[in-house]
Amino acid sequence: MASPATKIFDDRRQMVDACAAWLVDRIAQTEGRFALALSGGSTPKPLYALLATPDISRRIPWDRVHVFWGDERFVPADHPDNNARMARETMLSHVPIPPANIHAMPTDGEPEAAAAAYQRTLQDYYGASALDPARPLFDVNLLGMGDDGHTASLFPGATQLDETAAWVVAVRDQKPETRITLTYPALASARTVLFMVEGAAKQPALTRVFAGDRALPAARVHADGDLVWYLDRSAAPAA
Ligand code: 6PG
Repeated sequence: MASPATKIFDDRRQMVDACAAWLVDRIAQTEGRFALALSGGSTPKPLYALLATPDISRRIPWDRVHVFWGDERFVPADHPDNNARMARETMLSHVPIPPANIHAMPTDGEPEAAAAAYQRTLQDYYGASALDPARPLFDVNLLGMGDDGHTASLFPGATQLDETAAWVVAVRDQKPETRITLTYPALASARTVLFMVEGAAKQPALTRVFAGDRALPAARVHADGDLVWYLDRSAAPAA
């Protein structure tokens, strides 16, 4: 699968700058609410920090932006591994986004109940309990990829890869910490799914993903709109 929308940058800085510029333009071109799903991990941190810098932040109508997550580690909101905490520290605490527009995944109680609660949050925002490919849930869904080819918290060989009904599920058996993750149908419900992948450690998995190796979860992501890969040169598959 060599996606036609693959952009390769000389380094992470250029990739982040380009992604921020693209996001600002896409939000500006969108009327009304803008649903942005964030990924966790380390790759997006400089992007989130850049979006919060005054020169860029002032160009974003934060009152129209609704932030969601593609996955979450099932740890307390103030835990250092919590994805929403990372986004708050790097971006959300520094921009004038209304608190009601920040839709963090719950991480208390039982993971399955928290997943069901977040599915209700998404359905309330969407206004329906069934996804329509012609009316995507997200305007942009930002995703990363692990060096094993996982994305969000969909891991190789996991039973959650085959989920087609639920939008959000718990993942108890793949990592030291339990996770909550969007499933493929929900991840795909976006005008644009944008992967940001950087670092030589990702190149072997990315080469397999671009070759269509469906054993890697990232290779099975599709988009109701368009699917775009932003790569730094060290992660890009060998020509
Ligand atoms: C998470 C992410 C996960 C991440 C990849 C890449 O919760 O960890 O959503 O899917 O995007 O693991 O992580 P890095 O950007 O840290 O390499």
